[in-house]
Amino acid sequence: MSSESPLAMLGGLTAAEFLGDYWQQKPLLIRGAFPDLECPLEPDELAGLACEEGIESRLVEEHGESGPWQVRHGPFDERTFARLPERDWTLLVQAVDHYVPDVAKLLEAFDFLPRWRLDDIMISYAPPGGSVGPHVDQYDVFLLQGSGQRRWQLGGKVDDDAPIIAGIDLRILERFAVEDGDDWVLEPGDMLYLPPGWSHHGVSQSDDCLTLSVGFRAPSADEAITSFADYLGEQLPASRRYADAGMAPPADPTELDDDAVARMRGLILETLDDPAQLAQWFGRAMTQPKYVDQLVQSEHPTDPAELVAALQAGEALMRSPGSRFAWRALNDERATLFADGDGAECPLPLAHALAGNTPLDAKLLEIEGAAELLTALLDAGSLAWDGEFDE
Ligand code: SIN
Ligand code: CO
Repeated sequence: MSSESPLAMLGGLTAAEFLGDYWQQKPLLIRGAFPDLECPLEPDELAGLACEEGIESRLVEEHGESGPWQVRHGPFDERTFARLPERDWTLLVQAVDHYVPDVAKLLEAFDFLPRWRLDDIMISYAPPGGSVGPHVDQYDVFLLQGSGQRRWQLGGKVDDDAPIIAGIDLRILERFAVEDGDDWVLEPGDMLYLPPGWSHHGVSQSDDCLTLSVGFRAPSADEAITSFADYLGEQLPASRRYADAGMAPPADPTELDDDAVARMRGLILETLDDPAQLAQWFGRAMTQPKYVDQLVQSEHPTDPAELVAALQAGEALMRSPGSRFAWRALNDERATLFADGDGAECPLPLAHALAGNTPLDAKLLEIEGAAELLTALLDAGSLAWDGEFDE
């Protein structure tokens, strides 16, 4: 895809224009972003997913039995849905792209962004009046209307410490004032992009309102520092430690003086400032699966010769739903392939093929090291035999 061609899903902006002027900066309403969108799911199917063990779902009732803005967590059963009122509630199901291939397919439209920035597609269903209240998210999100109508209102950028309503399980803003003109009813195929920190309020206007939230991940400084330090820490020798050879005699033996603080600071900053290690950690961190326990590892190690024979007999592998891949070149020929929080060195074309959309068939075996890497990824659960997830 050339970054210079206008994209219909960005309202005719090029990827470069969108990234330069809107991404992480300001909201964008795109009418008809997906003009021929066929909603990949019915409300009943969403409710079915919310009844399954291991699928993350929430039910938000504005006027719940136990008070306003009641939140319940799935799995639910049919009786829960039968007892709900006619309006003012919302069902939210996380990571629907992991379970419904037609939903996963929508992610390809977002390839103008790094794929490892994508988190998941959450889908909500709400009867008229249903909402989760005015709130702020810390993540970029594209809110795509799948079916029915939802009214979206924006209240501008909000500080981290904006007051929220106390005593409920939702982070609903105490104050929400709609900014002039930022009030729209979205029809199927319309999409609203919101950067992190923008207050918003979406209320269903129909009895078939399905909204798809394409969300992105960005580690906080807190998570990044802790996780990188852990990664690095596992590899540092015990001998690398605070050292003060040649120091001047202390003016007062109980004082923690400036020189001591500077030595400690030097040790920490020099150890952390390692671009090669940082890249290795970053690739692992950004490919961490959303639900680690959904990776199905092989009970017994696969024999690479058997894998080769199966591929040569016409079988193919697939990337497991929810598995995450990225790659980074080490030089002109070699790369690290990151898969589901792990990293493996391999030939650059192999990393590129595995992380991208290349079919995983016998043709891949032409690349040196392919059989071993495919076997390792199959045993780790990042790959599966094609057809394994069919009903
Ligand atoms: C919803 O779909 O009801 C909520 C999505 C959001 O505001 O992030
Ligand atoms: Co939100």
